[in-house]
Amino acid sequence: MTKNISVIIGSLRRGSYARKIAHQVITYFPDGYEAQIVEIRDLPLYDFDYDDPDVTDKPTPKEYTRFRETLKASEGVLFVTAENNRTIPACLKNAIDIGSKPNSDVAWKNLPAGIISHSVGRMGGYSSQKNLRLALSYFDMPTPGQPEAFLGQSPSLIGEGGLITSEKTVEFLQNYVHRFTELVHTHPRG
Ligand SMILES: Cc1cc2nc3c(=O)[nH]c(=O)nc-3n(C[C@H](O)[C@H](O)[C@H](O)COP(=O)(O)O)c2cc1C
Repeated sequence: MTKNISVIIGSLRRGSYARKIAHQVITYFPDGYEAQIVEIRDLPLYDFDYDDPDVTDKPTPKEYTRFRETLKASEGVLFVTAENNRTIPACLKNAIDIGSKPNSDVAWKNLPAGIISHSVGRMGGYSSQKNLRLALSYFDMPTPGQPEAFLGQSPSLIGEGGLITSEKTVEFLQNYVHRFTELVHTHPRG
Protein backbone atom coordinates (compact mmCIF):
# COMPACT_ATOMS: atom_id res chain seq x y z
CA MET A 1 0.00 0.00 0.00
CA THR A 2 1.19 3.54 -0.78
CA LYS A 3 2.75 5.37 2.14
CA ASN A 4 1.62 8.99 2.44
CA ILE A 5 4.17 11.57 3.50
CA SER A 6 3.00 15.04 4.48
CA VAL A 7 5.52 17.70 3.57
CA ILE A 8 5.21 20.88 5.64
CA ILE A 9 6.99 24.06 4.65
CA GLY A 10 8.05 26.55 7.31
CA SER A 11 7.61 29.67 5.17
CA LEU A 12 4.70 31.49 3.56
CA ARG A 13 6.78 33.56 1.16
CA ARG A 14 6.02 33.08 -2.55
CA GLY A 15 9.68 32.82 -3.53
CA SER A 16 10.58 30.65 -0.52
CA TYR A 17 13.80 28.64 -0.78
CA ALA A 18 12.28 26.12 1.62
CA ARG A 19 9.45 25.54 -0.85
CA LYS A 20 11.90 25.06 -3.71
CA ILE A 21 13.91 22.59 -1.64
CA ALA A 22 10.71 20.76 -0.69
CA HIS A 23 9.62 20.45 -4.33
CA GLN A 24 12.95 18.93 -5.26
CA VAL A 25 13.16 16.60 -2.27
CA ILE A 26 9.68 15.24 -3.00
CA THR A 27 11.05 13.80 -6.26
CA TYR A 28 13.57 11.70 -4.30
CA PHE A 29 10.93 9.52 -2.65
CA PRO A 30 10.94 5.98 -4.07
CA ASP A 31 8.02 4.10 -5.60
CA GLY A 32 5.41 3.23 -3.04
CA TYR A 33 5.56 6.69 -1.44
CA GLU A 34 3.29 9.64 -2.10
CA ALA A 35 4.88 12.81 -0.72
CA GLN A 36 2.66 15.88 -0.88
CA ILE A 37 2.89 19.42 0.41
CA VAL A 38 0.31 20.15 3.07
CA GLU A 39 -0.35 23.88 3.07
CA ILE A 40 -0.45 25.61 6.46
CA ARG A 41 -1.14 29.15 5.23
CA ASP A 42 -4.87 29.15 5.96
CA LEU A 43 -4.80 27.53 9.39
CA PRO A 44 -6.41 30.00 11.81
CA LEU A 45 -4.14 31.05 14.66
CA TYR A 46 -4.32 28.41 17.37
CA ASP A 47 -6.91 29.07 20.05
CA PHE A 48 -7.59 26.35 22.62
CA ASP A 49 -11.20 27.52 22.93
CA TYR A 50 -11.83 25.67 19.66
CA ASP A 51 -10.83 22.41 21.35
CA ASP A 52 -12.23 23.13 24.80
CA PRO A 53 -15.45 21.16 25.37
CA ASP A 54 -16.47 23.81 27.91
CA VAL A 55 -16.50 26.53 25.24
CA THR A 56 -19.57 25.78 23.16
CA ASP A 57 -19.81 28.87 20.95
CA LYS A 58 -16.47 28.42 19.14
CA PRO A 59 -16.61 25.31 16.94
CA THR A 60 -13.39 23.70 15.72
CA PRO A 61 -12.42 25.34 12.40
CA LYS A 62 -12.75 23.02 9.42
CA GLU A 63 -9.13 23.86 8.50
CA TYR A 64 -7.98 22.35 11.83
CA THR A 65 -9.98 19.18 11.25
CA ARG A 66 -8.72 18.78 7.69
CA PHE A 67 -5.11 19.32 8.76
CA ARG A 68 -5.36 16.83 11.62
CA GLU A 69 -7.05 14.21 9.44
CA THR A 70 -4.34 14.61 6.77
CA LEU A 71 -1.61 14.04 9.36
CA LYS A 72 -3.42 11.07 10.82
CA ALA A 73 -3.65 9.52 7.36
CA SER A 74 0.12 9.96 6.87
CA GLU A 75 2.89 7.47 7.53
CA GLY A 76 5.45 10.25 7.94
CA VAL A 77 5.96 13.98 7.93
CA LEU A 78 8.84 15.88 6.37
CA PHE A 79 9.47 19.44 7.55
CA VAL A 80 11.40 21.80 5.32
CA THR A 81 11.83 25.02 7.21
CA ALA A 82 13.38 28.44 7.27
CA GLU A 83 14.56 30.14 10.48
CA ASN A 84 13.01 33.31 11.88
CA ASN A 85 14.68 35.07 14.77
CA ARG A 86 16.55 31.94 15.79
CA THR A 87 13.50 29.73 15.96
CA ILE A 88 10.84 28.26 13.67
CA PRO A 89 8.60 30.61 11.70
CA ALA A 90 5.31 31.36 13.45
CA CYS A 91 3.27 29.63 10.72
CA LEU A 92 5.03 26.35 11.49
CA LYS A 93 4.66 26.70 15.25
CA ASN A 94 0.97 27.37 14.71
CA ALA A 95 0.64 24.17 12.67
CA ILE A 96 2.45 22.18 15.36
CA ASP A 97 0.14 23.52 18.06
CA ILE A 98 -2.93 22.67 15.98
CA GLY A 99 -1.69 19.11 15.43
CA SER A 100 -0.98 18.73 19.14
CA LYS A 101 -4.60 18.87 20.32
CA PRO A 102 -6.88 17.41 21.52
CA ASN A 103 -4.78 15.50 24.04
CA SER A 104 -6.83 12.36 23.49
CA ASP A 105 -6.09 12.27 19.76
CA VAL A 106 -2.78 13.96 18.94
CA ALA A 107 -2.18 13.93 15.18
CA TRP A 108 1.63 13.95 15.59
CA LYS A 109 1.73 10.96 17.92
CA ASN A 110 4.34 8.37 16.78
CA LEU A 111 4.58 9.94 13.34
CA PRO A 112 8.10 9.55 11.88
CA ALA A 113 9.51 13.02 11.13
CA GLY A 114 12.27 14.20 8.83
CA ILE A 115 13.65 17.72 9.22
CA ILE A 116 15.49 19.83 6.67
CA SER A 117 16.31 23.37 7.72
CA HIS A 118 17.86 26.07 5.61
CA SER A 119 18.97 29.64 5.93
CA VAL A 120 20.45 32.33 3.79
CA GLY A 121 23.37 32.47 6.23
CA ARG A 122 25.95 29.80 6.94
CA MET A 123 24.30 28.10 9.89
CA GLY A 124 21.64 26.29 7.87
CA GLY A 125 18.80 27.13 10.22
CA TYR A 126 20.52 25.31 13.10
CA SER A 127 18.45 27.03 15.79
CA SER A 128 15.25 26.57 13.86
CA GLN A 129 15.85 22.85 13.54
CA LYS A 130 16.80 22.43 17.19
CA ASN A 131 13.72 24.39 18.25
CA LEU A 132 11.55 22.27 15.99
CA ARG A 133 12.97 19.12 17.57
CA LEU A 134 12.18 20.58 20.99
CA ALA A 135 8.57 21.31 20.03
CA LEU A 136 8.14 17.79 18.62
CA SER A 137 9.83 16.05 21.54
CA TYR A 138 6.54 15.65 23.36
CA PHE A 139 4.96 13.39 20.71
CA ASP A 140 7.24 10.31 20.48
CA MET A 141 8.10 11.04 16.87
CA PRO A 142 10.96 8.93 15.51
CA THR A 143 13.46 11.09 13.60
CA PRO A 144 16.58 10.19 11.60
CA GLY A 145 19.79 10.60 13.60
CA GLN A 146 22.97 11.70 11.81
CA PRO A 147 23.68 13.43 9.58
CA GLU A 148 21.17 16.18 10.26
CA ALA A 149 20.10 18.25 7.26
CA PHE A 150 21.18 21.88 7.59
CA LEU A 151 21.37 23.73 4.28
CA GLY A 152 23.36 26.94 4.59
CA GLN A 153 23.53 29.83 2.14
CA SER A 154 20.42 28.56 0.38
CA PRO A 155 20.35 31.27 -2.34
CA SER A 156 23.72 30.05 -3.60
CA LEU A 157 22.53 26.41 -3.59
CA ILE A 158 19.54 27.05 -5.81
CA GLY A 159 20.06 27.85 -9.47
CA GLU A 160 18.03 29.78 -12.04
CA GLY A 161 15.39 27.07 -12.57
CA GLY A 162 14.73 26.85 -8.83
CA LEU A 163 16.72 23.62 -8.55
CA ILE A 164 19.64 22.67 -6.34
CA THR A 165 22.55 22.26 -8.70
CA SER A 166 25.37 21.07 -6.44
CA GLU A 167 25.80 17.34 -6.97
CA LYS A 168 27.06 16.90 -3.42
CA THR A 169 23.95 18.55 -1.95
CA VAL A 170 21.64 16.56 -4.21
CA GLU A 171 23.34 13.32 -3.11
CA PHE A 172 23.13 14.39 0.51
CA LEU A 173 19.39 15.05 0.23
CA GLN A 174 18.75 11.83 -1.68
CA ASN A 175 20.52 9.96 1.10
CA TYR A 176 18.50 11.87 3.70
CA VAL A 177 15.24 10.83 2.04
CA HIS A 178 16.50 7.26 1.83
CA ARG A 179 17.21 7.19 5.56
CA PHE A 180 13.89 8.84 6.30
CA THR A 181 11.94 6.27 4.26
CA GLU A 182 13.81 3.48 6.07
CA LEU A 183 12.67 5.03 9.34
CA VAL A 184 9.09 5.23 8.07
CA HIS A 185 9.34 1.58 7.03
CA THR A 186 10.65 0.41 10.39
CA HIS A 187 8.29 2.59 12.47
CA PRO A 188 4.78 1.99 11.17
CA ARG A 189 2.20 3.94 13.12
CA GLY A 190 0.33 1.48 15.21
C1 LIG B 1 11.33 37.91 10.40
C2 LIG B 1 12.57 37.26 9.86
C3 LIG B 1 13.49 36.73 10.74
C4 LIG B 1 14.63 36.08 10.25
N1 LIG B 1 15.48 35.50 11.14
C5 LIG B 1 16.51 34.74 10.68
C6 LIG B 1 17.29 33.98 11.58
O1 LIG B 1 17.10 33.97 12.78
N2 LIG B 1 18.29 33.23 11.07
C7 LIG B 1 18.56 33.19 9.72
O2 LIG B 1 19.46 32.47 9.31
N3 LIG B 1 17.81 33.88 8.85
C8 LIG B 1 16.79 34.66 9.28
N4 LIG B 1 16.01 35.36 8.41
C9 LIG B 1 16.32 35.30 6.97
C10 LIG B 1 15.66 34.10 6.34
O3 LIG B 1 16.49 32.98 6.50
C11 LIG B 1 15.45 34.35 4.84
O4 LIG B 1 14.49 35.39 4.68
C12 LIG B 1 14.99 33.09 4.11
O5 LIG B 1 14.98 33.35 2.74
C13 LIG B 1 13.61 32.65 4.58
O6 LIG B 1 13.34 31.38 4.08
P1 LIG B 1 12.43 31.16 2.80
O7 LIG B 1 13.23 31.60 1.61
O8 LIG B 1 12.18 29.68 2.79
O9 LIG B 1 11.18 31.98 2.95
C14 LIG B 1 14.86 36.01 8.86
C15 LIG B 1 13.93 36.59 7.98
C16 LIG B 1 12.80 37.19 8.46
C17 LIG B 1 11.80 37.77 7.50
